Amino acid sequence: MSEQKPLLTSRYEIPNAHTIEVAEKHGAYKSARKALLTMKPEDIRAEVKKASIRGRGGAGFPAGVKWGFLNPQEGEQVYLVINGDESEPGTFKDRTILNVDPHRLIEGILITCWAIGAHTAYVYIRGELAHSIKSLDAALAEARAKGYVGEKPFGKPFEIQIYTHSGAGAYICGEETALLNSLEGRRGEPRLKPPFPAIKGAFDQPTIVNNVETIAAVPDVIEMGGEPWCNLSRLAPADGGVRLYGISGHVKRPGIYEAPVGITMRELIDVYGGGMLHDDRPLKAVIPGGSSTPVLRPDLKVDAKKADHPLHPWHGQSEIDVPMGVDTYRALGTMLGTCCAIVMDSSVNMVEACRNLMRFYQHESCGQCTPCREGTGWLLDTLDEICEGRGRPEDVHRLVEIANNMMGNTICAFADGTAMPLLGFVQKFREEFVAAVEKGRPLQARHDDSTAALVRGRAA
Ligand SMILES: Cc1cc2nc3c(=O)[nH]c(=O)nc-3n(C[C@H](O)[C@H](O)[C@H](O)COP(=O)(O)O)c2cc1C
Repeated sequence: MSEQKPLLTSRYEIPNAHTIEVAEKHGAYKSARKALLTMKPEDIRAEVKKASIRGRGGAGFPAGVKWGFLNPQEGEQVYLVINGDESEPGTFKDRTILNVDPHRLIEGILITCWAIGAHTAYVYIRGELAHSIKSLDAALAEARAKGYVGEKPFGKPFEIQIYTHSGAGAYICGEETALLNSLEGRRGEPRLKPPFPAIKGAFDQPTIVNNVETIAAVPDVIEMGGEPWCNLSRLAPADGGVRLYGISGHVKRPGIYEAPVGITMRELIDVYGGGMLHDDRPLKAVIPGGSSTPVLRPDLKVDAKKADHPLHPWHGQSEIDVPMGVDTYRALGTMLGTCCAIVMDSSVNMVEACRNLMRFYQHESCGQCTPCREGTGWLLDTLDEICEGRGRPEDVHRLVEIANNMMGNTICAFADGTAMPLLGFVQKFREEFVAAVEKGRPLQARHDDSTAALVRGRAA
């Protein structure tokens, strides 16, 4: 485990840390006071840039750089929108902040609002997370009563209002522009980009959309300074700090853990996750970061012979020994995503696991773009056929072809987030897909411990 004292989770073990009284006793709002009362907005933005916080919502875009895209024109109002939709299977980190330490998020919002010149922030939370909404609402009421949120936070004449907004159960509303439409009371469908939200976002005004964890990291950046915070990472300076890692599936200790950016998947599984659940069932595959990221296989070795390849230092090592970072995982042909891994042991049938995920994507496609609306359905139909013993030899290639035609042909990244994991499953476990077709009989579903049950269970 990391020697570093916990930052994001420093109050997780403290009873009643969700209350302002306890949170303040343990450091809450110190950074917000410092930022609002002693720092200029541009100095805060500079520290956040130095911290190199790669967005924790999945795409890994540096928060400080994103904030720099704002260029409000005369009469425009800047908004801050916090993405707490967290609906991707396998991902369950943001809700821990909202449930256990909501004041950390509020503090991050106050600092960010001051830094970017926003007087209003919305926190959009997945509707099913009723407890999280209640927890944040209660914390906001406390912060308002103390005057931290309102007309003069900590006495500073810079009004900041923060509102929660509940989603209605659609995964697509986690996509930032679908979220903005939903926030505005429109149908939750992604918008064409450009313009990006920083230019034209909520209510057609310049808007920064950031993930809950991204903003929850800001108070520590202000307390420590951008560079020291960044250097906590093993992948500094490109990918800074500490982050929340989730782990679920076939491990002894599923849960959320804080660790420096850049630990390996092997460490996450063996050290933080407590190792494989059953000693006689080795690791077969792991989905790194929420269900949209291509699977890793421990018996596959990194092929990076050339000295200038970003993964050259790990050439010949297992995929799960590459440090977990936004750029390293991209170079590996997958994505870090939300950094919440789904671990699968040797009992899991990959065709069945893939079908289960595709069922989710077929259900959740908003239907706006034809390649996504039709493609997700065709992928599921084809996998149903294979799993039910009606597969044809050409079906494996057909899956790849459908997925390739979805990639890059839609308004948002949902279709890519469906096609990429499908391609990962087929490329890395082709033999299982071929065998399933050749067998031509229904696959055995293991409902007691199948990935299907795991994926569903953890997402709830
Ligand atoms: C289908 C889809 C679902 C998404 N769901 C979420 C989500 O639940 N939470 C989140 O923060 N970002 C989600 N994103 C990413 C957001 O569009 C956006 O990149 C993110 O909120 C930006 O915040 P960050 O830069 O702090 O990561 C999703 C993207 C897509 C395409």
